[in-house]
Amino acid sequence: MAGPTRRQWFQAALPAAALLASCKSVDKGARGSVTVQEFGKLPNGETAQLFILKNRNGIETAITNYGGIIVTLKTYDARGLLADVALGFETLDGYLRPHPYFGAIIGRYGNRIGKARFTLDGVTYTLAKNDGENSLHGGVEGFDKKLWKARTEAGPGSQTLVLSYTSPDGEEGYPGTLQTEVRYTLSDDDSFRIDYLATTDKKTVVNLTNHTYFNLKGQGNGDILDHEIQINASRFTPVDEGLIPTGELRPVEGTPFDFRKPARIGARIDADDEQIRRGRGYDHNFVLDREGEGLSLAARVIEPSTGRGLEVWTTEPGMQFYTGNFLDGSLVGKGGKAYPRRSGFCLETQHFPDSPNQPAFPSTVLEPGKEYRSATVWKFITAQPKK
Ligand code: GLA
Repeated sequence: MAGPTRRQWFQAALPAAALLASCKSVDKGARGSVTVQEFGKLPNGETAQLFILKNRNGIETAITNYGGIIVTLKTYDARGLLADVALGFETLDGYLRPHPYFGAIIGRYGNRIGKARFTLDGVTYTLAKNDGENSLHGGVEGFDKKLWKARTEAGPGSQTLVLSYTSPDGEEGYPGTLQTEVRYTLSDDDSFRIDYLATTDKKTVVNLTNHTYFNLKGQGNGDILDHEIQINASRFTPVDEGLIPTGELRPVEGTPFDFRKPARIGARIDADDEQIRRGRGYDHNFVLDREGEGLSLAARVIEPSTGRGLEVWTTEPGMQFYTGNFLDGSLVGKGGKAYPRRSGFCLETQHFPDSPNQPAFPSTVLEPGKEYRSATVWKFITAQPKK
């Protein structure tokens, strides 16, 4: 059966997302702002900074140029209360210790590359195996662990943090010097946009994303199983035991992966299903039902008790939906909160995992003289809370 049209998809969404006229009090004269402060010192003595972007309505995010990590993200619920919806740490030290990519830019290759190798023009490139047999999220020292150059730009109605990093030829095994720029823009229309740009001097592969873990009840406030999610995807990429796609694009119809109508994240997360068992819950790439070339609505999530919501729009063909199955409560986050299993979810917009080894998947190859461009928008919304 063909997937729902865009129109049907929106209609299906209406009950959950009967959007409220915001009840927060907006000072018409208010303006957005950017401030910067020191975040901490890296072991090599370099200083990481923390940039605080605010929009005119009071939505606020703090981002460090270490790993481009989104440290806090404060958005409104239906009653006009702000909460920090991003899991993470209060200090740089938290991010210098091992952690599961909280808030970070992921590169050069977001997600997994099978057997940690790929071949381009007859040359095989070997990557570090940092996830069993496979390479995950750019390797041992990926873009999440780099100190990025930073500058800010103020536009009419928006604040932008521009981060740049030059990855040397051969870094983590990848060919080509990769000039990378990530632009984070918070706008007065309550959207947060991420633009990724890259160029190379040798043929290479690129797949950049962001690994923010959201909890729309507020970070540290329990699990995310009651959140309602809608994902605009009629197919997903099933995986083997090592979470590498088999190459099949499988219809979600009749599976726990069918989120074409809003459903509780927890409703089928422990279903008796081989794919669910392999992911220990959801840890899968969805093949988005895109329309056109530009930004397309990928997902909408509503937390029913607060009415706090999020839409994800992207230019990418795929999105990894990960439900924090590997969180185990051992990390102490902001406000001394623990992060138990499934206390955050990620919506990692991306090309499909293992694309360099899957000729039938959309290509992640970047050639010299060409530009890699990708954009994702998080739109902060509210809906009538359910009591
Ligand atoms: C990703 C992967 C997960 C897990 C997390 C980090 O999103 O798909 O399997 O590795 O990162 O813990």
